[in-house]
Amino acid sequence: MKSAAAVTRLFVCNAQKNEVGKDVAKALKIELKKQGLKNLFSGGEKRKTRVQTCNCLDLCKHCKKGAGAALIIYPEGTVYGDVKPKDAPDIVREHLGEGQVINRLLIE
Ligand code: FES
Repeated sequence: MKSAAAVTRLFVCNAQKNEVGKDVAKALKIELKKQGLKNLFSGGEKRKTRVQTCNCLDLCKHCKKGAGAALIIYPEGTVYGDVKPKDAPDIVREHLGEGQVINRLLIE
């Protein structure tokens, strides 16, 4: 049986008026494909990465009220805010690929 832990999910808030979250999610999907990280090995474990849009994550100070979107990486629980489409390459390369948290986007 497949365990749920083998999937990394990025929940991107889509509840802003300008819907920047939609563009962030799109940019993340494109980057995952481009960098070939849709399926990756991490700590010897094969992981799949899925990008999903969702409603308000209750992080509006760093989402609805700014120029970017909030997102949560599950199951590890990293929370990023004010994320813009141009941040997608760094999130995919540094966070998902190299396991480095991106301090400039970290809000919790
Ligand atoms: S509107 Fe995005 S976290 Fe609330």
